[in-house]
Amino acid sequence: MMHTVGSLRRTSCIMVTRRGLRSSSKSSKTPIVETLERRIRVTGPITVADYMRECLTHPQHGYYMKKDVFGSKGDFITSPEISQMFGELLGVWVVAEWQALASDGHLHLIEFGPGRGTLAADMLRTISQFDFMKEKISLHLLDVSPKMIALQHLLLCGRELPPNSRTESPEATRSIFGDIDVSWHRSLGEIEMKGKCCVIAHEFLDALPIHKFQKSKEGEFHEVLIDNAEDYDPHHFREVLTPSPNANCKMFANPRDEREHVEVSPLSGIIVQEIANTINKYGGFALLVDYGHDGTKEDTFRSFKSHKINNPLQDPGEADLTADVDFAFLRHCLRPLNVVTNGPISQQVFLHNMGIRVRLRALLSQAKTETQTKDILSSYRMLCSPDEMGDRFKFFSIHAKGHSGLPAGFTQPS
Ligand SMILES: C[S@@+](CC[C@H](N)C(=O)[O-])C[C@H]1O[C@@H](n2cnc3c(N)ncnc32)[C@H](O)[C@@H]1O
Repeated sequence: MMHTVGSLRRTSCIMVTRRGLRSSSKSSKTPIVETLERRIRVTGPITVADYMRECLTHPQHGYYMKKDVFGSKGDFITSPEISQMFGELLGVWVVAEWQALASDGHLHLIEFGPGRGTLAADMLRTISQFDFMKEKISLHLLDVSPKMIALQHLLLCGRELPPNSRTESPEATRSIFGDIDVSWHRSLGEIEMKGKCCVIAHEFLDALPIHKFQKSKEGEFHEVLIDNAEDYDPHHFREVLTPSPNANCKMFANPRDEREHVEVSPLSGIIVQEIANTINKYGGFALLVDYGHDGTKEDTFRSFKSHKINNPLQDPGEADLTADVDFAFLRHCLRPLNVVTNGPISQQVFLHNMGIRVRLRALLSQAKTETQTKDILSSYRMLCSPDEMGDRFKFFSIHAKGHSGLPAGFTQPS
């Protein structure tokens, strides 16, 4: 019976070939393959969103749940890991926006998906140099991964996370940055707010599940699903299309969209709405930074392993899965909440507006060796060059309804 359901659904779907991403050998049978194969045999093909969620955050086999995935020995490197300048300038941004609100109450600095905690540490080190902020700020981290939470605790609190503490109530722990408290939470609603908030999300939204849609010759969108592969397929899974537009197509893909492929992350929409509601209720601001576009890109779903881009069906659970963030979709989700948004603007424009050249000169003047000088210059180039991360990464801000004035970093350079 279970087998019949799977095969019936399979024959009624249409096979899709990913353009330019074919692999020559069958990918390895990673631990999550059997779990997913079994599920697909029972329920039929799953959405790309389900595939992505399982591969990244399955409690035992999910990519983020098991190991440190960053740096030269990992699969990718992020801006805060490249240079301290990145987190320092984001810290300055937080102070500037806080001052622009002329507030003197408490500020909850909240970070979604903090990875190793490097960005939070660089921001806190900078913020704690401003005496008027130090006493008013607390740090709140939201991450799904026990491994990442342990790394964040070690970096920010200077010691190992006590065993099983993730399951206890989210009591604040003293950070190594003066009197600033840190706590971990499962959702924004769990944070007991006693003042305004600043939400930061860097390379978080691109890890959230997307639905993929592909246009047929008749001009209708069909949803791309993930099915168990046939023996001759290069991987253990393959992409198929729903035979007709399903409920997700009707909800998320506009038939007037001229693109052939559309990717939508409903969860990202829900999370930015939660952020906006919190900002409207308590006051504050948010900065979202990610690979992204303004509703123009098509087929961006991909995987990263050992710093190489791969077919997302290869090495499930052992490779990072990501899709560019659609900022036009986020703006669309935010419209009913009347918040003030700015951007997306490119990373190079934001960092230059925030004074990265001044910080660069200061670091260069402290460099003791030629190697240090070269490293500082090369990290500046990686962050700002349009051929590296300068144009691909985008900054997008959210302020409460009624807020006026451009946020720091969002002005055009004179
Ligand atoms: C690509 S890493 C970015 C890390 C960090 N922000 C940086 O730039 O170095 C994604 C982070 O988001 C977390 N994450 C992924 N999916 C998540 C989810 N659904 N809910 C909460 N955190 C998630 C991961 O554990 C990881 O810490």
